[in-house]
Amino acid sequence: MRIVFCSLDARADDWLQSLRDALPDAQVQEWAPGAPPAEYAVVWRAPQQFFDAQPGLRCIFNMGAGVDALLGLRLPPGAALVRLEDGGMGVQMAEYVCHAVIRHFREMERYEESQRAGQWALRKPLRRADFPVGIMGLGVLGASVARALAQFGFPLAGWSRTPKSMEGLRCYAGAAQFDEFLAATRILVCMLPLTPQTRDIMRRETLSRLLPGSYIVNVARGEHLVEEDLLALIDEGRIEGAALDVFRTEPLPAQHPFWQHPRIRVTPHSSARTLRDETVAQIAAKIRALQRGEAVSGKVDLQRGY
Ligand code: NAP
Ligand code: GLV
Repeated sequence: MRIVFCSLDARADDWLQSLRDALPDAQVQEWAPGAPPAEYAVVWRAPQQFFDAQPGLRCIFNMGAGVDALLGLRLPPGAALVRLEDGGMGVQMAEYVCHAVIRHFREMERYEESQRAGQWALRKPLRRADFPVGIMGLGVLGASVARALAQFGFPLAGWSRTPKSMEGLRCYAGAAQFDEFLAATRILVCMLPLTPQTRDIMRRETLSRLLPGSYIVNVARGEHLVEEDLLALIDEGRIEGAALDVFRTEPLPAQHPFWQHPRIRVTPHSSARTLRDETVAQIAAKIRALQRGEAVSGKVDLQRGY
């Protein structure tokens, strides 16, 4: 069996070695033009040229949860696209989002300002009940975030495409319940895939429906957020601030206003990293299952976009 690896970001040598260790019977190669046809591909942001040159692929394994970078491409018609399911990202997302929510709720930035001023300045405790958290996207990662946040007792809600029921969480679904979800949310967490339906979902019209003094945590994709609308709403005092891990242009350009904004915290698309050991173990297990003729989970519905 032949596996071809193609990533614009990852260091190929380490990945090739891990894949060879996990699948000793396979021929694993980094892709270059003219490479022999393979059955399986392991990819991250692979170019159209790669897919055009590998028309016989049976299955394409995406080295991340989000497949938006591949959806605009012409993929080989017979190939299934399989995304990463958690693979060590659930706990990282839970850490990141809990940290962002708690840092905001416990006013850590104010205490840091006090420290810089050499002031012992106690602040009046805020009421947890006044900070309902709403999570957009209750999939593998959204559910992990919801379970972790539930430990801290914030009123919690989630919104998904199809109806769900989860303990400790008020669930809303579909376009019909979106406004109701927003109106009950003060801290908004975006955990959606990027699709035509979710692009620009955080814009003036929707963000204005949140409870007063709202706060935004975006750990999904930059294109979910209309960045100018966020800046304007913060300036108008309708939104208190944001913790942003993803941006419409990455790396975030040096002159971008987010870098120096006192109410915006920036991280470099680092909230949940692809971990090599966990990822290779998951992909190798799925390749072995496919070789045995079994079905695998994590198949992307190309029409739906996730
Ligand atoms: P997932 O398991 O596919 O879950 C997606 C969730 O979004 C599902 O609950 C789905 O609803 C919901 N959804 C999709 N379209 C919707 C719509 N139009 N309206 C309402 N809800 C909708 O995805 P995941 O593994 O949790 O990953 C989520 C995203 O996180 C990825 O796509 C990626 O963009 C992002 N991510 C970012 C990083 C980072 O480092 N910043 C790392 C990993 C992933 P249903 O349940 O009804 O289908
Ligand atoms: C990272 O952004 C991913 O989608 O896994």
